[in-house]
Amino acid sequence: MARRIAFINEKGGVGKTTLAVNVAAFFAGKRRQKVLLVDLDTQGHAAKTLGVDVRAGGLTVFDLLTNPAVGLNQVIRPTAVENLWLVPSWKEMAEFPTRAAADPERAKLLSKVLAPADELYDVIIFDAPPSFGLVTTNVLLAAEEIVIPVATTYLALDGCAEMVATVERVAKEYGHTRLRVTQIVPTLHRKTQMGEEIVEKLKQYFPRKVSEPMGLNVTIDEAQSHGKTIWEHAPWSRGATLLQQIAERIERAL
Ligand SMILES: Nc1ncnc2c1ncn2[C@@H]1O[C@H](COP(=O)(O)OP(=O)(O)O)[C@@H](O)[C@H]1O
Ligand SMILES: [Mg+2]
Repeated sequence: MARRIAFINEKGGVGKTTLAVNVAAFFAGKRRQKVLLVDLDTQGHAAKTLGVDVRAGGLTVFDLLTNPAVGLNQVIRPTAVENLWLVPSWKEMAEFPTRAAADPERAKLLSKVLAPADELYDVIIFDAPPSFGLVTTNVLLAAEEIVIPVATTYLALDGCAEMVATVERVAKEYGHTRLRVTQIVPTLHRKTQMGEEIVEKLKQYFPRKVSEPMGLNVTIDEAQSHGKTIWEHAPWSRGATLLQQIAERIERAL
């Protein structure tokens, strides 16, 4: 049985993809586990961050979800990181909710198409889109451990509480009893008084669930722009140490 970890936040630009890719590469490279990273966003940033060219064509997660003739092994791509494979996503994922609308099982399609991966991989990681809709519901029903990256800005607390509530509602509605929020990762964090206050508040609201903040770090941004994980780009940097601490925390799932 593979662990299934998803990175979710309905806001864009809060570090979902950065965390999903680097945590996936942590399990693959540092823990020598077989990892499948599944991108669900229309922007295809998980592929970009791994230096995989999706625009060059090939099947994506959309084909897997909407065409019963397409099998999992046809959409999985190797990456430059050993033990790490990718199911890429691209623009056509925007059409998924319309395509699946008439299917009574539409919320469980992702879980269904990934069933064969359960035996083949140790960890499956999901990079969710920045919205709450059918795609994210599919992610919640395919995953078990939810990580919420939260930018430590003024409205963060509201947004975070809402997302935790959504995860709980979906878990209840679909009887997915193993679904739970395991970590909240403060991201894009600045050590200002307000930033620190927000982290403290998150810790009060969500005891034991808040990891060390992912501070603003140029090396982390650079790695992504080079199409590399932090472990390939700058393994001895402060950014790498930071991401390793966060990844270990997610690994322990406290
Ligand atoms: N700790 C960080 N320090 C600096 N830049 C970051 C950091 N984390 C993410 N970024 C940058 O912020 C942008 C948005 O991050 P991303 O992970 O793509 O967010 P999301 O997937 O939630 O939209 C990217 O350009 C990324 O490189
Ligand atoms: Mg993203």
